[in-house]
Amino acid sequence: MSSQHDAWTAGHSYEHYMGRWSRVIAWRFLEWLDPPERRDWLEIGCGTGALTATILAKCDPASILATDQSDDFVRHAADTMHDERVRFETAEARALPVGDASVDIVTSGLVLNFIPDKPAALQEMRRVLRPGGLVAFYVWDYPGGGMGFIDAFWRAAAACDPAAASLDEGKRFPFCTAEGLKGLCEEAGLADIAVTPLEVTTRFDDFNAFWRPFTLGAGPAPGYCRNLEEPQREALKHKLAEEVGTDGAIELPARAWAARGTIG
Ligand SMILES: C[S@@+](CC[C@H](N)C(=O)[O-])C[C@H]1O[C@@H](n2cnc3c(N)ncnc32)[C@H](O)[C@@H]1O
Repeated sequence: MSSQHDAWTAGHSYEHYMGRWSRVIAWRFLEWLDPPERRDWLEIGCGTGALTATILAKCDPASILATDQSDDFVRHAADTMHDERVRFETAEARALPVGDASVDIVTSGLVLNFIPDKPAALQEMRRVLRPGGLVAFYVWDYPGGGMGFIDAFWRAAAACDPAAASLDEGKRFPFCTAEGLKGLCEEAGLADIAVTPLEVTTRFDDFNAFWRPFTLGAGPAPGYCRNLEEPQREALKHKLAEEVGTDGAIELPARAWAARGTIG
């Protein structure tokens, strides 16, 4: 389910808002996945390249084709990452730009909840995998309160504007649970399915460091924040300060669910 506020553009803004945390969770994900080396990877929804860079650093891939529907993000990732093993291309998850049975591992980080037809996306992943290939992905645990700083934002936003409640990712993405991921993998006919939680801490030096990424416009909550009139944005800032406090550093937990499975 997409929203007019999702705002997947502006790589630098995304990096301040989410990229720095998605790099940490990408590392945890690959530690858990422990994939074989020298494989051909395809990534869906690479954004600014948080997972792409981590695969390059940690997994010794033979190649990575990193794709995203956003031209802006693909350009940002290609401009900031120079490695002969990686190539970036604009592509929608439902139409991956490679032939049947052409890669060993298909992965995506923090993307699947934004794809309306998830079963079709899983079928497209299966199409491009070689026999025995691996599907592996992760999403934030939005419905389980697993994304502390975003949860705080939407609580404050709903207190100021009841209509904002429906934009909360916890409500938009009920699929982001252990059962949701496992069910999707089963429905896609994957074998050797495993699902696990991944946890990190998001730390902000003070309230200004906490607030600023929401004003930069990349992602659902920043997209909502940017579209407010100035007095409404100030009221939200005030409410959020009440919610998380303004006395020193702010530390909140962030949890994702990761899933993997293989095709026969
Ligand atoms: C939260 S960002 C995650 C980016 C990156 N993987 C990371 O871990 O930081 C979600 C990304 O998914 C992309 N995306 C959303 N829907 C998509 C779709 N249907 N096909 C391809 N990419 C999609 C967005 O453009 C955005 O870059």
